[in-house]
Amino acid sequence: MRTSPWTTAVETGTIRNLDEPTMSTQRLARGLGRRGVLWSVDTSLDAILLSRSVVAGGPVRFHLGPGAGFLRGWGGPPIDFLLLDSANDPDTILEEFLAGWPHVPRGGVVFVDDAGVFPDGTPDPKSLPRKGHRIPGGAAAVGGRVVVLDGPRGPQIAVWKD
Ligand SMILES: C[S@@+](CC[C@H](N)C(=O)[O-])C[C@H]1O[C@@H](n2cnc3c(N)ncnc32)[C@H](O)[C@@H]1O
Repeated sequence: MRTSPWTTAVETGTIRNLDEPTMSTQRLARGLGRRGVLWSVDTSLDAILLSRSVVAGGPVRFHLGPGAGFLRGWGGPPIDFLLLDSANDPDTILEEFLAGWPHVPRGGVVFVDDAGVFPDGTPDPKSLPRKGHRIPGGAAAVGGRVVVLDGPRGPQIAVWKD
């Protein structure tokens, strides 16, 4: 169970351009303030350099490389909040989810943006975003509680570790 006021957050997929409205790295950094740290992971050096300039001075550390490998090798404190927003590929996101899940403490949560699922969690075959297509199945396999959220730009998935 998470009890510390310090939050450890990880995101796969950092800010890659300034036109996308999400700006997750900046939002998470602002939300954390001085109460935690965000690790932001991306395979693109250009994206990392851009994102780093956006959050300069904030509580963010960067890692260049695939999200799943980073999560598999995680040796830090429990990950209270994990945002999966890298490749628009259900297999990649499932791999990240399964790699990150063991590091999430009870009370922690994994978020998947651009999930492309219906409210009951089944994949929407017509949706271009499809990051969450394999997440409900993966969550069921590890005992995660799935909540599909009606996000401002489409469905997102939260998987809670109760
Ligand atoms: C949708 S963008 C992330 C947007 C960002 N979260 C935001 O809100 O502004 C996806 C990013 O994931 C990166 N990416 C693609 N495949 C990846 C992987 N396997 N591991 C880590 N990052 C990856 C891309 O380089 C790109 O910068």
